[in-house]
Amino acid sequence: MTDRAGDSVPSMPQHVAVIMDGNGRWARARGLERIEGHWAGYKTLKRIVYAADDLGIRYLTVYGFSSENWRRPQNEVSGLMRLMYAAMRAELEDLIENGIRVRVIGRLHQLPDELSDIFYEAMRSTEAYTRMTFTLAINYGGRAEIVDAVRAIARDIADGRISADDVDEASVAARLYAPEMPDPDLLIRTAGEMRLSNYLLWQSAYSEIWVTPTYWPDFTPELLLQAVQDYGKRTRRFGAVVE
Ligand code: IPE
Ligand code: IPE
Ligand code: MG
Repeated sequence: MTDRAGDSVPSMPQHVAVIMDGNGRWARARGLERIEGHWAGYKTLKRIVYAADDLGIRYLTVYGFSSENWRRPQNEVSGLMRLMYAAMRAELEDLIENGIRVRVIGRLHQLPDELSDIFYEAMRSTEAYTRMTFTLAINYGGRAEIVDAVRAIARDIADGRISADDVDEASVAARLYAPEMPDPDLLIRTAGEMRLSNYLLWQSAYSEIWVTPTYWPDFTPELLLQAVQDYGKRTRRFGAVVE
């Protein structure tokens, strides 16, 4: 396989998911407020979206705000809501110009109206694009997503559309927030923590995990390439025996 520059890239991951962690620690190390770390993280994200597209990654999904992040101090939460709104306002035009499809997954109805409105606008105005799909997980929780899928199944059973015996993995997968998206091949977490923090629990069943101690604001396209190259050396078994 080759990237857009024609260089050889061994077995490219089709879908890369990222837990962008360490903004707070990055800020603290510099004597800054946590929110300043989040703004620095936004700048990094901007570079990484285009770097992923240049590499030929088809799906990039990033964790922007978890359903548990409401537990943070109120000023950090409201600062993050303002940042997400300003960032989407500022970036939408460039994303459109570059033909990048934007999706947002999570319980968007619980976000401030202004924020969910701009997310819907971004999704609407880029839905025809096929270059790269850039998905933001906002007010997202893997358990909440599965609960929402189970509720949808329960409604379908109650209304007689399907029977309980017909429920299988495909029935659950079909009711996730972005059902047509392939599962992540590679899951990157920055800032060193070795946990999923409720991210894409269903979809990451067989994802290859790559962790770097680098805080998210210091993450670079070079590190993304390193993760992708390391992924190329992994052997995926999916439970089977591979010689
Ligand atoms: C990740 O950075 C961004 C969000 C969760 C919004 P953190 O804010 O979790 O940074 P640390 O983990 O406290 O360093
Ligand atoms: C996960 O990071 C959420 C995001 C990156 C948006 P957290 O910083 O919230 O995760 P924990 O609390 O360390 O598990
Ligand atoms: Mg964190």
